[in-house]
Amino acid sequence: MTLKQRIFSGIQPSGNLHIGNYLGAIANWIKLQDEFDSIFCVVDMHAITVAQNPEMLRKKTIEIAKIYLAAGIDPKKSSIFIQSQVSEHAELCWILNTITKIPELEKMTQFKDKAQKNDKESAGVGLFDYPVLMAADILLYGTEVVPVGEDQKQHVELARDLAKRFNQKFGETFIVPKVFIKEEGMRIMGLDDPSKKMSKSAASEYNYISLLDDEETVKRKIKKAVTDSGSEIVYSNDKPALKNLINIFSSFSGKTPKEIEKMYVGKGYGDFKMQLAEVVIGFLTPFQEKFNSLSDEEVLKILEEGSRKVEKLAKLKMKEIKEKIGFIV
Ligand code: TYM
Repeated sequence: MTLKQRIFSGIQPSGNLHIGNYLGAIANWIKLQDEFDSIFCVVDMHAITVAQNPEMLRKKTIEIAKIYLAAGIDPKKSSIFIQSQVSEHAELCWILNTITKIPELEKMTQFKDKAQKNDKESAGVGLFDYPVLMAADILLYGTEVVPVGEDQKQHVELARDLAKRFNQKFGETFIVPKVFIKEEGMRIMGLDDPSKKMSKSAASEYNYISLLDDEETVKRKIKKAVTDSGSEIVYSNDKPALKNLINIFSSFSGKTPKEIEKMYVGKGYGDFKMQLAEVVIGFLTPFQEKFNSLSDEEVLKILEEGSRKVEKLAKLKMKEIKEKIGFIV
C-alpha cells in the first residue's frame, strides 16, 4: 500500500501536441511524479467524441505515450496507459451519467466551443457527455489531485460535484479531487490570436508550436507570431500577444518576465523573437532526440504494463461502486 497521494491526468490523442500542452500539463506531471502516486492516461475515448481517422488515432495514441516518456515521465515511478484498454472508465461513466444533470453539461465552455466549431446540430452525445467520462477517469482511482491546464478546471469541478453527490446518495465512496494548476491563469495562447488558447485543433498551424516541429518551422512560426502595437518588450495586460510570448520565454528559460524585460531594453521585437526561437529549440532538440529513440514496441510494452497495474485498482473500485448502487456482483 502506498502512503503517497494519487494524481491522475490525461491528454487526447488528437491533433498535434503543442508547447501549451507541455507547459500547462506535462511539465508539471514530471515534477509531481516523485511526490505523488501518479497515473497518466492517453484518453482515446475522449478523442473519438469528434471524428477521427482510425489509422491516425492509433498512430497518435502511441505518439502521445512517446511524448510522455520523452518529456520525462518515468514508467518506474508512474503508470502510463490507454483509456480504452481499461473498460471500467466507460462503465463508471454510465453510472455517473445517471446522477449528472443536463444543465450541468450544457454550461461547459469546452462543449460550447467544440459544438460551435463542429456545428451544434451534428455534435454527438459523446461530446456532450465528455466531462462525465473525465469525471469517471478521475474518480475511478481515488485521485486526490488533478494536474491540468486552466481550461480543464471546469471539468474537474464537475468531477468534484459528482463525487459529493454520489457520496451523499450512496455513502462515502469517492475522494473529492482537487485541481492543480501551476500558476493561476497559466494558459498558453495562440500565436496567431492571443485572445484564444493555443489549441491542437486550431485551423492554422501558425496557432501553435508542435512538440515535434523542426527548427525551421519553429523559427518561421515565431517570426510570424502576432505582436502588439509599439516596439518595446514589456510584460503587460495591455499587450496580450507579447505577454504570451514572454510567458513562453520565461517557462522555457527559467527567467522571470522582469528579467526578460531587462534583457531587451532598447531592443525590438526582432531580437526578442529570434532568441525566443532559440530558447524553444533548445528545449525541443533533446526532447525530440529522446522521442525518436523510442520504438513503438517498447512503448506498447510500457502501456500494457500500465494497463495491467491500473486495471487492478479500477476493478476493485468498480466492485465497491456496484455494491453501493445495488447491482449484484
Ligand atoms: P487536452 O488533450 O485538450 O489537453 C491536455 C492538457 O493540456 C492542457 N492545455 C493547455 N495548457 C496551457 N495552455 C494551453 N493552450 C493548453 N491547451 C491544453 C490541458 O489543460 C490539459 O491539461 N479533458 C482533457 C483530457 C482528460 C483529462 C482526464 C485530464 C481526459 N480525462 C482526466 C485530467 C484528468 C483534455 O481535453 O485535455
